[in-house]
Amino acid sequence: EKAGFDHFMLKEIYEQPKAYRDTMGSRIDPTGKKVVMNELKMTNEYIKSIQQVHIVACGTAYHAGMVGKSIIEKLARIPVETDVASEYRYRSPIITPNTLVVVVSQSGETADTLAALREAKRCGARVVAVTNVVGSSVAREADDVIVTWAGPEIAVASTKAYTSQLIAFYLFGLYLAQTLGTQDEAYIADVVAELKQLPEKVEQILEHAEVIKECAEQIATHNNLFFIGRGIDYAVVLEGSLKLKEISYIHSEAYPSGELKHGTLALIEEGIPVIALATQPDLFEKTVSNIKEVKARGAYVFGIHTTGETELGKAVDQMLEIPQTIPLLSPALSVIPLQLLAYYASLARGNDVDKPRNLAKSVTVE
Ligand code: F6R
Repeated sequence: EKAGFDHFMLKEIYEQPKAYRDTMGSRIDPTGKKVVMNELKMTNEYIKSIQQVHIVACGTAYHAGMVGKSIIEKLARIPVETDVASEYRYRSPIITPNTLVVVVSQSGETADTLAALREAKRCGARVVAVTNVVGSSVAREADDVIVTWAGPEIAVASTKAYTSQLIAFYLFGLYLAQTLGTQDEAYIADVVAELKQLPEKVEQILEHAEVIKECAEQIATHNNLFFIGRGIDYAVVLEGSLKLKEISYIHSEAYPSGELKHGTLALIEEGIPVIALATQPDLFEKTVSNIKEVKARGAYVFGIHTTGETELGKAVDQMLEIPQTIPLLSPALSVIPLQLLAYYASLARGNDVDKPRNLAKSVTVE
């Protein structure tokens, strides 16, 4: 059942190249230059009327939604807000018929997410569900459904469902951009070409899992650590931090790199591990200076960056390289080492990786 892997989580991490390919599947036009989404019932006229997008989800799916915000804003130039589903209904969100609400749920059964969907519909919004389960409650009640073809996810800690949600957001973001004309055709073709290369690049990262395992064993001896990142990297470190907490029970916090000096820097002491994600070229210099701030206070820094960045290499204690892609697509690669880090840290601590304490795979109570 685990296909030779020690745990479902590891199996599911290694299934990601396939999950990416299956989720892209027939949604990429045979010319390879644009996206087709035949499952969407929304008209082009409707798409042109969208004034704002709300992305609502819980946990890991919420973190995918944070990346989704960057994707939709960058590609389609529509303002996007993200909300944790258990908060959404209670803040009187401004939902109008011109609001597109995107709910994200692997199981499609999360009670808070379903309640948010119903509230959105009650207010007259159109709802798109991004879900891994065909026929789930969320899929049945939404106006449109984008299925992530990750296949069944058994481990409590979500991995391939998260990355498939990212792929769904790339496809949907491109589709909106094509319809709205917010990006030229050549750029869209470039993004599509890069998307198609992601599965192979994930395979390259997985081939170097040994290096990440060593880092994880080092981290597993600590009780506290930090993740830092800027922009889209911040959304990814939030997910890396959740994954680590969830299965290794090591406390960590994810911070936007530039925010550390507004308080949290007080917690940086000799030997504390800091995992710094730096994949965005336009933010690179600033991130390096944030790394120097924590280094100067004794932190031990693991830097995750794309190949060819020597500047960072000099600033950190250990480097983990990921293959190059366009900056917007980097989350689909950079999260892989963070998943492996959580997995191996949990293993090093002798925890039940697939069934962490106090947690359930599907949360059907509010
Ligand atoms: C973390 C994790 C949870 C879920 C959350 C939402 O690894 O799996 O945070 O992401 O409970 O679940 P779904 O996506 O089924 O709505």
